[in-house]
Amino acid sequence: MRVRLRPDGRRQALLDPGGDPTSVADLLSAVVADTDREVIIELADDDGLLSTVLTVGFVERRHENIYEVECDVAVSALVDHQITPEWTVEAADRVDLDRLRELDDELRQDVPGISGWRWSREAFLAEMQSPSCDPRLYRVLVDASGDYHGICRIWRNPQQSRIGFVGVSRQHRRGGLATALLADTLREARRIGLSTLVLEADTTNVSNRLADKIGARRIGGTVELVHRGDATRG
Ligand SMILES: CC(C)(COP(=O)(O)OP(=O)(O)OC[C@H]1O[C@@H](n2cnc3c(N)ncnc32)[C@H](O)[C@@H]1OP(=O)(O)O)[C@@H](O)C(=O)NCCC(=O)NCCS
Repeated sequence: MRVRLRPDGRRQALLDPGGDPTSVADLLSAVVADTDREVIIELADDDGLLSTVLTVGFVERRHENIYEVECDVAVSALVDHQITPEWTVEAADRVDLDRLRELDDELRQDVPGISGWRWSREAFLAEMQSPSCDPRLYRVLVDASGDYHGICRIWRNPQQSRIGFVGVSRQHRRGGLATALLADTLREARRIGLSTLVLEADTTNVSNRLADKIGARRIGGTVELVHRGDATRG
C-alpha cells in the first residue's frame, strides 16, 4: 500500500489489487492512527475489499460513474456543436503554462472531491511532461483578449485513453461552451486515431449530462471513502 499527499492536501491510500483483507485492515489502521488529517480511498463499487475498509472506520462519501465513449459516436452526436468565432482553441504546447495552471486550479474548485486543489509549479509541469499528455488533446479555450477560460483534456494512458477533464470558467457556463470544447477535442482524438475512451463523473456532476450527450455507456462505478484520522484521539 502507498499513501500519497495530493495537491488538495488530502492523503490518499492506494491499495494493491487483490490484497488480503486482514493485511489491508492492519495497514489501514496504522495509516489512520498516524494522522489527524483526512485519508481517502477510491475503490470500484463492487470491490471485495469494500467491507474491510468500512470495518476500519472509513465511510462512503461520494460515488462516480465510469463511462465508455466511442469516439465516432460522440463526434457524430456533437456534429452541430462548434466553437463560435469570438473564441479560439489552442493546444497546450501553445499556451503559457503558468496561466494554464492557474485556470486548472480555479476550475478544480468546483469539481466534487478535489476542491482545495493547488498545483505546485513543479508538479503541474511534471504532469504536462508525462507520456500520457498529448498537447493536441489538451485544449484550452481562449477569448479575444488572450485570456484562458476553458480546458478539455484527454490523457493517452497506456491501458485506455481517458477524458480527464472538461471545465469552463464560471462566468461563461451554461452557454454551450463545454459541449463545443468537448466536441472539438473529440474530433481531434478521432483524427489522430483514438477509438474508445473512458470518462469518470461524480454522480452529482453536470458532466453526466455531457456523457449522455455523447452517447456514453455506463460500464461501472467507484466509491470514495474517507477517514478523519485517529491521531488526535486520546
Ligand atoms: C461541467 C461544466 C464543464 C459544464 O460547462 P458548461 O459550459 O456550462 O456546459 P454546457 O453549457 O455545454 O452544457 C452542457 C449540458 O449541461 C447542462 N448544464 C450545464 N450546467 C448545468 C447546471 N448547473 N445544472 C443543470 N444542467 C446544467 C446544460 O443545460 C447542457 O445540457 P442540454 O444540452 O441538455 O441543455 C462546468 O459546469 C464546469 O466547468 N464545472 C466545473 C468543472 C467540472 O466539474 N468539470 C466536470 C468534471 S471533469
